[in-house]
Amino acid sequence: MREPAEVFPADGSIPPEHGPGPVMEQRGYLCSGEIRQWDGPLQDVLSPICTPAPGCERRRIGGYPLLTGKEALEALDAACASQDGGRGEWPTMSVEGRIARLAEFASRMPAAREEVVRRMMWEIGKSLADSQKEFDRTVDYVRGTIEAMKDLDRASSRFAIEEGVIGQIRRAPLGVALCMGPFNYPLNETFTTLIPALLMGNSVIFKPPKLGVLLHEPLLEAFRGCFPKGVVNTVYGDGRTVVGPLMESGRVDVLAFIGTSRVADTLRRQHPRPHRLRCVLGLEAKNAAIVLPDADLDLAVRECALGSLSFNGQRCTALKMLFVHRSIAGEFLERLSAAVGSLRTGMPWEAGVAITPLPEDGKVDAMRGLIADAERGGARVVNPGGGEAAGTLMKPAVVFPVGPGMRLYTEEQFGPVVPVASFDSTEEPLEWIAGSDYGQQVSLFGRDPAKLASLIDPLVNQVCRVNLNSQCQRGPDTFPFTGRKDSAEGTLSVSDALRVFSIRTLVAAKETEENRGILSSMVRGRSSRFVSTDFIF
Ligand code: G3H
Repeated sequence: MREPAEVFPADGSIPPEHGPGPVMEQRGYLCSGEIRQWDGPLQDVLSPICTPAPGCERRRIGGYPLLTGKEALEALDAACASQDGGRGEWPTMSVEGRIARLAEFASRMPAAREEVVRRMMWEIGKSLADSQKEFDRTVDYVRGTIEAMKDLDRASSRFAIEEGVIGQIRRAPLGVALCMGPFNYPLNETFTTLIPALLMGNSVIFKPPKLGVLLHEPLLEAFRGCFPKGVVNTVYGDGRTVVGPLMESGRVDVLAFIGTSRVADTLRRQHPRPHRLRCVLGLEAKNAAIVLPDADLDLAVRECALGSLSFNGQRCTALKMLFVHRSIAGEFLERLSAAVGSLRTGMPWEAGVAITPLPEDGKVDAMRGLIADAERGGARVVNPGGGEAAGTLMKPAVVFPVGPGMRLYTEEQFGPVVPVASFDSTEEPLEWIAGSDYGQQVSLFGRDPAKLASLIDPLVNQVCRVNLNSQCQRGPDTFPFTGRKDSAEGTLSVSDALRVFSIRTLVAAKETEENRGILSSMVRGRSSRFVSTDFIF
């Protein structure tokens, strides 16, 4: 691993195809079907990619509009107008019609790939390979959601007759959705809520995360061109200034938010009638790995290193606490330290890079604070150079033994620190998981089916995914992704998300001759988009 201070390049040694390009001053924002120009103040965008040592200063790569509550409420007015109390073009459009618009959007996305990926590297420090993966996975997600929508519609394109009542049961939009994604997956996790919300007929206001804003700009024109006026609107700026008025208006029907539970609770409380607000939340997590004495150690170490440190540990699904059986703890730590030491540190565009600069302000200090706290409790950094840093770049630290009373034992670190504890009885990690504020996933490493089964049965009641002999992760995107306690509300997957952003609604009629005639005339004459047996092929 190179020393952090050796890593930041001078301007002349950045490959031109991966450079930041001209300063990106974004002034446009999408409101009511037009890209409006903001002539007010901009928020500076500072890249985590610093100037070379010894300065190691963040480079200013651009700015984005610091909109005010006024522009936010204009976006809300536009979104509400496009719904028009259920009469709007978008919520009443046929499912096929909406699918065609989304398919058009998906077909326009690849043209923006190179620019979105470049901005992602410079704004949040994600590696080129991971940024490309995020982009491609998002396009696949859009296409997958379209297929899931077809399935959902096909299943509803028939009548049910029960107890003398004819019913046609479908799903309808909820109204206006406010979608806010996180900085670590700024494109993917914003789109995993925004796309299903749109496809179900909702109108959307989307606010990009504080970090990872400019990368959305190359897609603005496609949003403008593919959807009716007011169906997609963007707001930028300080969360309190622009999001507060939206929530306080009481006119947001769905809050789709990926971030911290503290912010989610504040936003929900701002809504004057919270019972009207549906929340879809992806929040903190502190996923544990439990490494049993008979585990394949090579595999466990590989998965734990990757699971803890992909994108520098900045994933909600990252492994954030490793419990290793005492009999193998020494050997595990030795191999884990070697695996962490072999991770390549560098700039996002470098081939094979694993550890890259951290985009959040003060992140290195925050990580060092957690390490210092654990050291005061008797733990130590076991890998050579762990925790050393220059500017925004930090060598990952493996910290052992982490135990009760240390912040690292319970707090989500969301960064390149790997806390390890040893255990004698599996009751210890089970107890830790039951007592944790979080309940997303767990990883089990072992070979004995009976032992694994005895852990799986209680664990599925505490978390929402048990991974056998592999790291925690969200994918495949067709699998349900959710969590318990402070980790999530609502379930996302290409099909579940369509349900989350819609409500069941039906047309029912007593089975009389007259009603039969009315309904069959509607179906034959195709006069209703809802009362219809059309089948999407
Ligand atoms: O940050 C949380 C992401 O949803 C995790 O997704 O497991 O594919 O990295 P991932």
